[in-house]
Amino acid sequence: GDDLRLARIAEAIRVIPNFPKPGIMFQDITTLLLDPKAFKDTIDMFVERYKDMNISVVAGIEARGFIFGPPIALAIGAKFVPMRKPKKLPGEVISEEYSLEYGTDRIEMHVGAVREGERAIIIDDLVATGGTLCAAIRLLERVGVNVVECACVIELPELKGRERLGDRPLFVLVKAF
Ligand code: PRP
Repeated sequence: GDDLRLARIAEAIRVIPNFPKPGIMFQDITTLLLDPKAFKDTIDMFVERYKDMNISVVAGIEARGFIFGPPIALAIGAKFVPMRKPKKLPGEVISEEYSLEYGTDRIEMHVGAVREGERAIIIDDLVATGGTLCAAIRLLERVGVNVVECACVIELPELKGRERLGDRPLFVLVKAF
């Protein structure tokens, strides 16, 4: 059942202490990708949730949203839209800034990738403070897209990203402490 699949997914994620800096427990999904059963279960659980929700856009956040997003998009018959770090996309872009611990960062999306009124989900590997997902939501909403839900493999509840998202639905498979 679902609980067994979720337990296997959680077990396949490796935790690396003090990466990239002291005190950070890094949630490493590369070990999940090495386990074909757990990787497939991860994709399947998202596909089962979104297949009948009339979603036409799967927006994936660089870098690890580019791993989970495309197989979900293919399975539910939606397009995949990359949300990239600054200056990577070659065409005309719109962008949104978000705050980091020190300074700011930005994500960008191609103009014309989505149309007003489309229904989207946003995919990433992990939600921490929620700053990245909030910027992605703003970007899509600016062009009239309806963000139905954000979906991540892992949530770090202590960083309160769910609160930052306010009433925006957030679906996660694994909570890590
Ligand atoms: C990580 C993670 C999310 C983001 C979550 O990406 O993959 O995209 O941080 O953090 P937040 O909820 O506090 O915004 P990272 O910054 O490591 O970038 P990368 O994927 O390009 O390595």
